[in-house]
Amino acid sequence: MEKTFVMVKPDGVQRGLIGEIVARFEKKGYKMVGGKLLTVPRSLAEEHYAEHKERPFFGELVDFITSSPVFAMVWEGENIIKTARQMMGTTKPAEAASGTIRGDFGVTVGKNIIHGSDSATSAEREISLWFKEEEQSSYTKKV
Ligand code: CMP
Repeated sequence: MEKTFVMVKPDGVQRGLIGEIVARFEKKGYKMVGGKLLTVPRSLAEEHYAEHKERPFFGELVDFITSSPVFAMVWEGENIIKTARQMMGTTKPAEAASGTIRGDFGVTVGKNIIHGSDSATSAEREISLWFKEEEQSSYTKKV
């Protein structure tokens, strides 16, 4: 079954949106198979955002993501990589549709509440970067 990496960023945690975000994914029918609150080490933030290293906002991005805890998760479900991105809305919250997480709760691009893997390759890379095998619990839903 397809898996993706989702992270509630420091602004989302500070604003008390973990529960709202988890609820949206649960209600959609997806299954959380890994989840943890952590203050991100700078080295992990730099590796996670390595593709943006040359961007002018890279330093600001790493400063922000390490500034206070994030809630990192692995979610599982059919076609979840693409659907999670649709549920999140576009990167710029000002342009994100109402009904999406960023559209409903975000205002600025730097503080856009949530991150989700943008492809199967990214999902695989990000899950293994953030979660050890034993931190993921695959299980069958019985209800
Ligand atoms: P995310 O999906 O986590 O992936 C890269 C992040 O870079 C993106 O969300 C934004 O939060 C951030 N980002 C993109 N553009 C800018 C910008 N101009 N200034 C600050 N951060 C940005």
